[in-house]
Amino acid sequence: MYEHDVIVVGAGGAGLRAAIAAQEEGADVAIVSKLHPVRSHTGAAEGGINAALREGDSWEDHAYDTMKGSDYLGDAPAIETLAQTSPEEVIQLEHWGMAFSREEDGRVSQRPFGGLSFPRTTYAGAETGHQLLHTMYEQLVKRGIEVYDEWHVLDLAVSDEDAPEDRTCHGVVGYDIQSGNVEGFRARDGVILATGGLGQVYDHTTNAVSNTGDGVAMAYRAGAPIEDMEFIQFHPTTLPSTGVLISEGVRGEGGILYNAEGERFMFEYGYASNDGELASRDVVSRAELNEVNAGRGIEDEYVHLDMRHLGEERIIDRLENILHLAEDFEGVDALEEPMPVKPGQHYAMGGIETDENGETCISGLYAAGECACASVHGSNRLGGNALPELIVFGARAGYHAAGRDLGEAEITTGKRGEWEAGDVETPVDPGAVEPDVEADASGDAVADGSGLDPAGFVERATERATERIESLLTNEDGRNHAEIRADVQQSMTDNVNVFREEDALKQALRDIREAREAYQDVGVADQSRTFNTDLLQTIETRNIIDLAEAITLGALVREEFRGAHWRKEYQERDDENWLKHTLLSWNDGSPELWFKPVILEGEEKRYEPKIRSY
Ligand code: FUM
Repeated sequence: MYEHDVIVVGAGGAGLRAAIAAQEEGADVAIVSKLHPVRSHTGAAEGGINAALREGDSWEDHAYDTMKGSDYLGDAPAIETLAQTSPEEVIQLEHWGMAFSREEDGRVSQRPFGGLSFPRTTYAGAETGHQLLHTMYEQLVKRGIEVYDEWHVLDLAVSDEDAPEDRTCHGVVGYDIQSGNVEGFRARDGVILATGGLGQVYDHTTNAVSNTGDGVAMAYRAGAPIEDMEFIQFHPTTLPSTGVLISEGVRGEGGILYNAEGERFMFEYGYASNDGELASRDVVSRAELNEVNAGRGIEDEYVHLDMRHLGEERIIDRLENILHLAEDFEGVDALEEPMPVKPGQHYAMGGIETDENGETCISGLYAAGECACASVHGSNRLGGNALPELIVFGARAGYHAAGRDLGEAEITTGKRGEWEAGDVETPVDPGAVEPDVEADASGDAVADGSGLDPAGFVERATERATERIESLLTNEDGRNHAEIRADVQQSMTDNVNVFREEDALKQALRDIREAREAYQDVGVADQSRTFNTDLLQTIETRNIIDLAEAITLGALVREEFRGAHWRKEYQERDDENWLKHTLLSWNDGSPELWFKPVILEGEEKRYEPKIRSY
């Protein structure tokens, strides 16, 4: 068994920042990650980092834009923390040597992004995430922080008191992809989940194949509530054939969207009469699909994004990466022709419920970055707010886990007696197939945990994970995961997309149930111990199934239209009934639903919900 003070799971932006912070605080910290750090998906982030750095801008304006962008479903303490802390974190990155784009006078460049009232998106060409990842990786190497890379974390080692709020996380179980060994990692002070996105729940996504929502699913099964899962962001400009992202930076620099008639539809049809292409993402994605549905799409599928008028010099200076992506993945020379684009899954606004210090309701368990929900983004994230979230909340989780006093959090976590219970009518039973009251958080038979010390919990979790791997490998003639995964991804894309309606959501739940049943007989044909991707993807597929169901349950229960969540049957935002977060927890294998109120009270003012227009 390995042992450290703080274990960070995941080596993207949030994980690296958390590890650096924990080490600064004096902790013996290690990262366990299924990917080498510089292969993390943060490296694919293109557009930039929102930070109020310039004269004329303020953290208050950043906070206001973010709250408005969230359609008043973000929590003010988290949003204000983000807006207040982002400038110092960006300056820190600059001091660590991050290669930001710069103005003639040497200042770090900023550009407009959707939904912002000030051009506050700091960037490094159209490869900001790549630069950020490498800058922090240098710090990791310089500081000698231990990285167990190509170790796939299978499970959390959590004690098994009845109420999740009474449980403690003592570590994780890792699978060494190179050797096939399963080992426990004991965390003396805390485990920080920073496992990123869950885009592989869908079949058209900007996310890497590694983004299978592992941390969210593990935390969910261990009893940590997951919050606002129904809010999925569909980015308006993805390449139709692959889902590869074409940065909002293109529109920030002046790129224009056209329909098949050559009309600048954002203005022409009044989708966003003030901000046009730079309305927030939910608005632009719906507009594009409305155009396609009205017969004004190209090949009945996509619209055009044109940046030719920006000129070669400016494009090469600020958006060179986009030229390569359009050429390599779509065969389009974007200096000569417009790029085909359509909405694609990009980001999960929801995730593991945390407070503004990154703590979950399980003692010793933290989450930061896309896998977490503090909640900064509410029902719609603004472009350029993901990277500041990684560094601001990654740092806070790292400091807090290592013992720094960050003050008492205002956001509460865990199930409280005063929260409203939820109920949703589903066509099939959600949750584990034949849920067994004797099942524990990870679905295994309960072994009495009484008398176990912290290392004992890690050993127990390691034994269970080893048994599970062996049983997958033994069932070599079982069902292959690939078809099950593809069916879930297709159903989610067909039924739980930008436009949602009750019948389709129910169909998705039926499909997910079928996938769960099929998964009972899943097996792994490849018996090798080294780089067995068949085995790893089989394990990930279980996470995809659990999260697909959580997203769909949230979407079915939320009977209103807010931010990225459009419902055919409910065409208005309903502040009277729905100014609340959706929480789900895995209770003996059946998802339990409840709601908690949104916090609109900021440090100095209350953010009054207003009609949201761009
Ligand atoms: O469009 C983009 O460059 C993506 C940025 C983001 O999701 O924040």
